[in-house]
Amino acid sequence: MNKILIIDDEREICESIKMILDYADYSVEYCTDSKSGLKRLEEEEYNALLLDIQMPGLNGFEILDQIRDKQLSINVIMISAFSSLENAVKATKLGAFDFIEKPIDRDKLLISIRNAVEKSNLLTENKKLKEHLFLNEEILGESKVIKDILTTISRVAKTEARILITGENGTGKELVARAIHKNSARASKPLVEVNCAAIPNELIESELFGHEKGSFTGASNKRIGKFEQANGGTLFLDEIGDMSLQAQAKVLRAIEDGKIERVGGNTKIEVDVRIITATNKDLKEEISSDNFREDLFHRLNVIPIIVPPLRERKEDIPILIRSFAKQICEKNGFTQVNFNTSAIEFLQSLPWSGNVRELRNLIERIVIMVPKQEIEKSHIIDLLPVSKTNNDELFDSTSSFQEFKEKAEKAFIVKQLDLNEWNISKTAEILDIQRSHLYSKMKKYDIEKGKV
Ligand SMILES: Nc1ncnc2c1ncn2[C@@H]1O[C@H](COP(=O)(O)OP(=O)(O)OP(=O)(O)O)[C@@H](O)[C@H]1O
Ligand SMILES: [Mg+2]
Repeated sequence: MNKILIIDDEREICESIKMILDYADYSVEYCTDSKSGLKRLEEEEYNALLLDIQMPGLNGFEILDQIRDKQLSINVIMISAFSSLENAVKATKLGAFDFIEKPIDRDKLLISIRNAVEKSNLLTENKKLKEHLFLNEEILGESKVIKDILTTISRVAKTEARILITGENGTGKELVARAIHKNSARASKPLVEVNCAAIPNELIESELFGHEKGSFTGASNKRIGKFEQANGGTLFLDEIGDMSLQAQAKVLRAIEDGKIERVGGNTKIEVDVRIITATNKDLKEEISSDNFREDLFHRLNVIPIIVPPLRERKEDIPILIRSFAKQICEKNGFTQVNFNTSAIEFLQSLPWSGNVRELRNLIERIVIMVPKQEIEKSHIIDLLPVSKTNNDELFDSTSSFQEFKEKAEKAFIVKQLDLNEWNISKTAEILDIQRSHLYSKMKKYDIEKGKV
């Protein structure tokens, strides 16, 4: 049965709304004191809330504000005897779902409640679907190292230990972080992900810790940071190696105190989060070049998980190919395809500098572009980014495997940039890497427009 909460200081109003809604088969509770109403909202789940505006103690707008800050997902219908356009606009701005004037019209109330409940049920349904998809995010692999990683995950997930996941781009670090959260006691609470490389240095503190209204230019509203959002759950700090030293100091303090302070605020807020971090950088190297704090490293690196590059676990390639091909066919409504032995062996021989992500993208390209049920090696060669003639050139002038990989990677990046008119965001999206990552590759290979 759909549950409705009413917060209104006038008992008679609560009673009369309850009567209407009881009759329409809703389960209705009410609170005449706004503070205890808010408390009840935090403790129990409701499908909709009817909220009075004028009340002693916390008024309706203040409650609405708190609902937003605490990220309680509930559709709120404001009710007020002082109906004014101003109130209605304010309510909508604060995220209210609807606004009803007193005295309450029975039909309007029922329609509004029905809409709010429908929306809330849709959201729940969506969440469930997403969780289901999440559960299908299985970590596949037959190599000993992947099996060991799975064992480690199941051992550490239930603990509170902080985990540092390292590995090259596209090796599956994010997948590991999610698996740990999903298998932990915090699974029903949020997993909040922050990509530290994607946030400009000057904004990272406000992103992590939030800020008070007016604390800096542009901070026109109070903001709840990721630490607070993750309260009770897991905070996944991705690309931690790219975090500024200043932010590192604050993260260290937050870990030590178990408390955070919003930017521009002066109260400490207790937070209960489990921290998982990931990076593709060698943090020991970053420490020796003074880019990463050693004390923070030791705090984060309680349990290290190292995800090796795909080229070091080629035995995982066949199962990944089968699974990706199956998913891509299902997604596109194609008949299932099969990769024959020559195709699989050829794919196992490639360098995979972009690891599993690159493999996945190539399989997608093959399945979409090759109109065959049985994929052979020759079909793949035709689709490879570096053409065969280029290959010969590369092979002739290249002395080591590493050099070959780098030349191929550079050639591929230049080609994609050309194809996308040197639009960095678009190219990064197509290569399925972060813009910052593309920039660093361009710097590494000295790629500039007009220069190559
Ligand atoms: N073992 C695996 N089994 C199945 N899919 C995998 C596996 N490893 C990686 N993937 C898939 O490869 C892609 C890249 O993985 P993920 O995003 O976890 O990598 P990452 O290490 O976090 O990469 P980056 O460093 O670029 O952020 C995702 O689509 C993921 O689902
Ligand atoms: Mg990642």
